[in-house]
Amino acid sequence: MNCKNTAEFALELDAKDELKDYRNEFHIPLQKNGKEHIYMCGNSLGLQPKRTKEFLNQELEDWATFGVEGHFHAKNPWMPYHEFLTESYAKIVGAKPAEVVAMNTLTVNLHLMMVSFYRPTEKRHKIIIEGDAFPSDIYAVESQIKHHSLSPETSLIKLRPRDGESAIRTEDILAIIEREGDEIALIMLGGVNYYTGQVFDFEKITKLAQDKGIKVGFDLAHAAGNIKLELHNWGVDFAVWCSYKYLNSGPGSVAAAFVHEKHHTTNLNRFAGWWGHNKEDRFKMPDDFNPIQSAEGWQLSNPPILSLAAIRASLSIFDEVGMDKLVAKSKELTNYLLYLLNTIYTDRIEIITPEERGCQLSIRVKNGNKNLFDAITEKGVVADWREPDVIRVAPIPLYNSFHDVFNFYSILKEEL
Ligand SMILES: Cc1ncc(COP(=O)(O)O)c(C=O)c1O
Repeated sequence: MNCKNTAEFALELDAKDELKDYRNEFHIPLQKNGKEHIYMCGNSLGLQPKRTKEFLNQELEDWATFGVEGHFHAKNPWMPYHEFLTESYAKIVGAKPAEVVAMNTLTVNLHLMMVSFYRPTEKRHKIIIEGDAFPSDIYAVESQIKHHSLSPETSLIKLRPRDGESAIRTEDILAIIEREGDEIALIMLGGVNYYTGQVFDFEKITKLAQDKGIKVGFDLAHAAGNIKLELHNWGVDFAVWCSYKYLNSGPGSVAAAFVHEKHHTTNLNRFAGWWGHNKEDRFKMPDDFNPIQSAEGWQLSNPPILSLAAIRASLSIFDEVGMDKLVAKSKELTNYLLYLLNTIYTDRIEIITPEERGCQLSIRVKNGNKNLFDAITEKGVVADWREPDVIRVAPIPLYNSFHDVFNFYSILKEEL
């Protein structure tokens, strides 16, 4: 694409955009002056689809009408409600429907997965994670290590980029696996690193790790609904993700998990609850736990229907658009943003996101000066600041326009 840094060019791109009408499907927050914000923060909290209200109202009405009978007689019966999400989720993460389940919240799911997939022995006890993984993930893996009476000092390997670089090289990850493979029990990486926006090479890492007998899991908080995933074909052991970022399902909404089908009938250790018990006799209240032979077997509780209704609303948009078209537009939007940023001649900012990325770009600000972020916020941009020195921006293909991207660039340039 021969790009130009003009508003006219951005508007031309919008006019040609096949997905442009989907912007009207979302509530775009307004500034005090009544103009729409330039919302570039869908990697933190996705915007509300207008149809969400309708999906929630349906369940509120059915609760008012049926009370407890809504479990069976609601228009969308609550008993199997989580199952209404599985086909859509399977398409988004590249899985078989039996391999995905909506449940709990992300960090809870991460713990549940580690109960099953982190089984340290005297020899094989280490976990690999990114050094700059989201703090909750670090807390989770460290607490799992301690739970097994081990120490993060000796059982946690934190991956770091080389000096002077921002992204972690795949070759360096593979070298650690080659070198220490016999001692590593689990590799748990963010599929897309939350800070730099780096996408890891799922396939290469999973293949080499599993050849060495290591289990592999991914936190897809920044990947699900953002990049193309093939969890089943890559053979990933497990994955977890939240639904409130790229999946636009509302603050704190229910998360999800993937468990590869090769583990469904094995006798893996797990924490159990009644919702994971086989559906045929769950209500006979038997004493012995008999897990559903699918990812659903990892469920603990009956799920919050109102939250699942918001997810259904959002996934119905993903079903209409499909990940191929979404990712195609995402690449164009982010490439345009990168092009524009590269036309600004300054040494005050540096893009630290590597070529392997989704829609997020992370802009490092020299000397961690937050004034720049505060100034663009004042002018209507919603992005986020991550300590110590990064502004993260994510143009979202379902609701951001090329004109949004251009406006963001113009404001940033002016402030620089
Ligand atoms: C990469 C990553 N992991 C984990 C979390 C924690 O998610 P939750 O609070 O839903 O457990 C977040 C939240 O933003 C995140 O970005």
